[in-house]
Amino acid sequence: MDKHDLVSKDLMLNWHPYTQMKDCVDMPPIPLAGAKGVKLYDYDGNFYYDTISSWWCNVHGHGHPAMIRAIKKQLSSLEHTLFAGFTHAPAVGLSERLVDITPAGLKKVFYSDNGSTSVEVAMKMSFQYWKNTGCKGKNKFLSLDRGYHGDTIGAMSVSGIGPFNKVFEQLFLDVYKIPSPYCYRCPVSEDKADCSLGCLHAAESMLNEHSDEIAAMIIEPLLMGAGGMIIYPAEYLKGIAGLCRKYHVHLIVDEVATGFGRTGKMFASEYAAIDPDFMCLSKGITSGYLPLGATLTTEKIYDAFYADYHECKTFYHGHTYTANPVACAAAISCIDLFEKEGTLRNVDRINAKLKVFLNDMAELDVVGETRSIGAVGVLELVKDRKTKEPFGIEERLGLRIYKKGLREGLLLRPLGNIIYFFLPLSTTPGELDDIFARAARALAI
Ligand SMILES: Cc1ncc(COP(=O)(O)O)c(C=O)c1O
Repeated sequence: MDKHDLVSKDLMLNWHPYTQMKDCVDMPPIPLAGAKGVKLYDYDGNFYYDTISSWWCNVHGHGHPAMIRAIKKQLSSLEHTLFAGFTHAPAVGLSERLVDITPAGLKKVFYSDNGSTSVEVAMKMSFQYWKNTGCKGKNKFLSLDRGYHGDTIGAMSVSGIGPFNKVFEQLFLDVYKIPSPYCYRCPVSEDKADCSLGCLHAAESMLNEHSDEIAAMIIEPLLMGAGGMIIYPAEYLKGIAGLCRKYHVHLIVDEVATGFGRTGKMFASEYAAIDPDFMCLSKGITSGYLPLGATLTTEKIYDAFYADYHECKTFYHGHTYTANPVACAAAISCIDLFEKEGTLRNVDRINAKLKVFLNDMAELDVVGETRSIGAVGVLELVKDRKTKEPFGIEERLGLRIYKKGLREGLLLRPLGNIIYFFLPLSTTPGELDDIFARAARALAI
C-alpha cells in the first residue's frame, strides 16, 4: 500500500483519539513507516524527533534490540493465556521486580492493560476495602482540580474538568476537588521564593470535614501531566501523604506518566519518601512496546479481601489481557535496561541540557515560565508576562507550534499554551543539541 492509499483508507476506516476528524481534511495523519532510537520515520525517509516519547511511553528508544529479543523469546513460548486459575514466569518475575523497586510497603501486584484501568483498579480496591472492613460511609474520592488520570468514567471523575471531559460530567462519581499546587499561578497567592505551602490548608480542611466520606485521595506525584505539566515541590506530596495518614484516607499515587525514570528517579514518589497505599503504573513500564497496566498495594489492603468465599470479599475485577505474558516479558526487559544502560544517569544529563535550553528560551517575550524535572521540560506561553494572561483557546497556539515543529522534524504536541518535551530517556547529548536548535526555530513565533 503506498502512502496515499494508506491515508485515504485510514480516513475512511479509522476514528483517531482526541481528534476532530474534520480537521484531518486539511491535516491528515502522517503515515509512519518505522522508528529507530528517538526518531520516527515517514514513507519518504523524513524523520521526526519523538520529543514526547510516543505519548509519554518510550524510555529506551524505538527498536531497541534487547526489547525485541525479550518479546520474540516470550512470543515463541506463551503469547497469551487467562490469569485466573493460571500463572506464568513473566508475571511472577515482573511482580518480583516491581515489588523490589517500588516503596517498601507495596507488596501485591494487580495487572491490567493501560493507565486508566490501573487507576480504576486502585479506586475500586480502595472503595471495596472500606466495605470489606465494615466502614460504610467512605464512598467518595478526593483529587486535585487539574489532575489527569485517564478517560474511563472513574478516572475521568477524579480528573480536572476541562474541554475533554466536561460533556460527560453527569456520569461522574462523587469527587471532592482541591486546588492544585500550581506554583506559577499559586492558588493562595504565595511568592515562590518564600512559599510556606499554604495550599496544603485546602487539603487539611477538606479532610478534616469530609474524611469519613472519602475512601482515597489520588494524586500525580510531583508532575501533573495533561493538566498543564505542573511541577510542584516534594514537600507538598509529603504533606498530602501525612494528611491522608492522619485522616485515615488511602493515598493513591498515579505514576502512570512519572514512573520508570521520567522525573530522574525510578518513581517520582521517591522524592518525597512516602509510603502510598496504591501505586498505578503503565506507559513506561514496557517502554511503550506493549500495553500493560499494574496497580500495586499493601498487605493490609490485600488482607481485607482475603476471606472464606461465602464472606463475599473477593475483588471481582479483571481484564482479558491481565498480565499478558509478552507484555510482562517486555516490562522485565525494560527494567533490566535501566541497570545495564545507566538510564537514570542519562536522565540527569538530559535535565542539565534541558535547563540550559529553557534558560535561553525564557528570554522570549511569550514565555511566562519555564520549569523542568528529569527528562521533562516545560515552557508556559503567555500573552502578557506581567499579568500572566494566557493565549485564548481560539488562537490555537498549540496547533500552530505543532505544525511548525513538524516542519522542523520535531513531534511537539503542546497542551494548549504549554509547550513541553517529554524526552525518551535514551536521548544522546548530540540529539539533544539538534532537538533544541530545531525547537528554538519552531518557537520563534
Ligand atoms: C497520570 C496519568 N494517569 C493515567 C493516564 C491514562 O493512561 P491511558 O491513556 O493509558 O489510559 C494518563 C495518560 O496520559 C496519565 O498521564
